[in-house]
Amino acid sequence: MSNKMWGGRFTERPDAIMEEINVSIDVDRHLHAQDIRASKAHAAMLAAQGIITENDAKNIADGLDTILSEIGEGRFTFKRALEDIHMNVESRLAELIGPAAGRLHTARSRNDQVATDFRLYVRDVIDATDAALAAFQQVLAERALQHAATVMPGFTHLQTAQPVTFGHHLLAYVEMAARDRGRFADARKRLNESPLGAAALAGTSFPIDRDLTAKALGFDRPMANSLDAVSDRDFVLETLAAAAIAAMHLSRFAEELVIWTSPLVGLVRLSDKFTTGSSIMPQKRNPDAAELVRAKTGRVIGALTGLLIVMKGLPLAYQKDMQEDKQGAMEAFEALSLSIRAMTGMVADLVPEEARMEVAAGEGYATATDLADWLVRTLKMPFREAHHVTGRIVAKASEAGVALHLLPLSQLQAAEPRITAQVLDVLSVQASVKSRTSYGGTAPKNVLAQAKAWLKRLEKERKLG
Ligand code: ARG
Repeated sequence: MSNKMWGGRFTERPDAIMEEINVSIDVDRHLHAQDIRASKAHAAMLAAQGIITENDAKNIADGLDTILSEIGEGRFTFKRALEDIHMNVESRLAELIGPAAGRLHTARSRNDQVATDFRLYVRDVIDATDAALAAFQQVLAERALQHAATVMPGFTHLQTAQPVTFGHHLLAYVEMAARDRGRFADARKRLNESPLGAAALAGTSFPIDRDLTAKALGFDRPMANSLDAVSDRDFVLETLAAAAIAAMHLSRFAEELVIWTSPLVGLVRLSDKFTTGSSIMPQKRNPDAAELVRAKTGRVIGALTGLLIVMKGLPLAYQKDMQEDKQGAMEAFEALSLSIRAMTGMVADLVPEEARMEVAAGEGYATATDLADWLVRTLKMPFREAHHVTGRIVAKASEAGVALHLLPLSQLQAAEPRITAQVLDVLSVQASVKSRTSYGGTAPKNVLAQAKAWLKRLEKERKLG
């Protein structure tokens, strides 16, 4: 038998390989809720416009509700021979309500149908991602508040640079997550238009009301061009781009956790809940979750580049290539969701090794800039000269094998006779961070204020939410 949905002009069955390459039900079954929602909106509109009877529309809606619960309860048999979710649903509808099911596809095509379903799906993903990122920010800001004054080494080139606070470091990721959320929100605005009613590519001769279906599905308006509506996937790409950048941020943080938890570094201890042991080395505490967050970023970036490559050679309008838009994207969104939740979990109960952090913050002459700044401020020395004098003092300390604040005053004065004991005030790591009060700087009082401001903002968002 040829295909019962579109087989009118066919006499032979498709080859088994044809079926296998064509089938998409394993992937697009995840669109079932969106597909049913869109079909209900379409049927209601067809009835409102007098294109089908109210009675048929009612039977269609009831049948679709039945199918939704069948799928939800695992009682639905997805058939590969029916290719995709759209035909699986319609075929089951025919079993449930008879010939009226055939009226649902009036003034519609699978092309505008799948574009609508996937927009609804990606919109749901964006909303869930935004909530997950907000929860991540919440935990980061709470831990930042708690560690506003915990001193740790700040790095450039992964070399000890200047002391910073742990809270300041955590708040850097709150800012990144905020921009990530902004990118998702931007993508959502452009995504939120309805392709439904574009039909196959040219629109339809039926007197449909596209505003009505757009409104019913929570879209801002119908898309203005039917060719564009069925053929672009930029909404997936934009969301994947936002996902790739967010994943990249998480990956950098994950990499830091991997470094910080190495026994060679020992700045942070992850809880047992977020570490694993080794089957052979009993002493091991491996940061697997952080490593996997780092690795899953590859999947997200891969999905973005993969879909860009699928799309870049396609003439208008719908091409079957576009069926390949879903699997990579869905896997990428799932990977990102898991990564955000894993990072949130790790941050919630990690323990900074405060004593080790403070010692490490002072290693590598991390307060050398503070010494140079003191020379500028107190002796009115030009910064370039102060940099030079400080360099000579660092060399002496390095030779003597001691930290800057432990170098005898006479040695400091040998480099610059006007230096007084007062300089010792700025050479401690605590004094260093305390002095960084410029806007956006690491001073504990700044960090405290920023953490509080974020917590307030997040709480306000939740109330409005
Ligand atoms: N499964 C298809 C997809 O995901 C649905 C649209 C099929 N349209 C068509 N004309 N064959 O792209």
